[in-house]
Amino acid sequence: MHHANDILLSIRNLNKSFGGLKVANDISLDLHAGIITTLVGPNGAGKTTLFNLITGLLVPDSGDILWQNQSIARLKNWQIGRLGVARSFQDLRLFDQMTVQENILTVMETHSWLWQPGGKQAAVDRQRRLEAILEATHLEKLVHVPAIDLAYAERKFLSLARVMATQAKIWLLDEPASGLDRGSYELFLKILRNAVREGITVCIIEHNLDIVVGISDRIAFLDQGRLLAQGEPDAVLNDPHLAAIYFGERAA
Ligand SMILES: Nc1ncnc2c1ncn2[C@@H]1O[C@H](COP(=O)(O)OP(=O)(O)O)[C@@H](O)[C@H]1O
Ligand SMILES: [Mg+2]
Repeated sequence: MHHANDILLSIRNLNKSFGGLKVANDISLDLHAGIITTLVGPNGAGKTTLFNLITGLLVPDSGDILWQNQSIARLKNWQIGRLGVARSFQDLRLFDQMTVQENILTVMETHSWLWQPGGKQAAVDRQRRLEAILEATHLEKLVHVPAIDLAYAERKFLSLARVMATQAKIWLLDEPASGLDRGSYELFLKILRNAVREGITVCIIEHNLDIVVGISDRIAFLDQGRLLAQGEPDAVLNDPHLAAIYFGERAA
């Protein structure tokens, strides 16, 4: 298991610009193993961009990203995925024409084929994992429903199910709780707490401060591509300077 101060992923002096717009401005951030770190900050702060940089969808202009002390900053997206980094997208990116089950199966590693030694056992294990994920996300009754026919919250849970299916060590979740009704939010929390109990490291982007307070072990506050603060939720959220930025009262 993890030690309290283990750092699974370390972002070091990361920079990225789009033309003249600096979307990552010398960001240094550690994601500690086995806890939930929340990225907070106003719209356009660069939160999603940071996920894109971590997962290799964007290449940093300079700086480094260390995964268990090894640089991953210039690896391809699929290579980073293989290491054990999974993410969800703000816009979900489901395969709309595929069923719930198919959407989940596409992200499960095949590892071995049926005709290989151990292949049959792998298939049995895969089926068992699929069923566990369907149960955890309350999607059992919808296995054969195309993703496009799901309700809003069900789509969010399918997106989460696809992250769960990767068996990654770290989950990067882009606004997974936004727009969830009370009951769905409770289920989301339960899934998250189970994952953390099993040793998964989580980084969540979240807007709603009530939710942020409810789930975060640590908070990282971003604004205009800069990491303004990171630390315990109380310390970060009670900083009046950050509150002013968050609520748009930035001094002239
Ligand atoms: N591919 C891109 N090309 C140009 N600008 C982009 C691109 N992606 C994001 N941006 C800009 O970068 C800034 C940060 O965006 P984003 O990371 O999506 O913010 P957040 O997730 O915090 O709301 C925004 O101003 C956005 O318009
Ligand atoms: Mg975003």
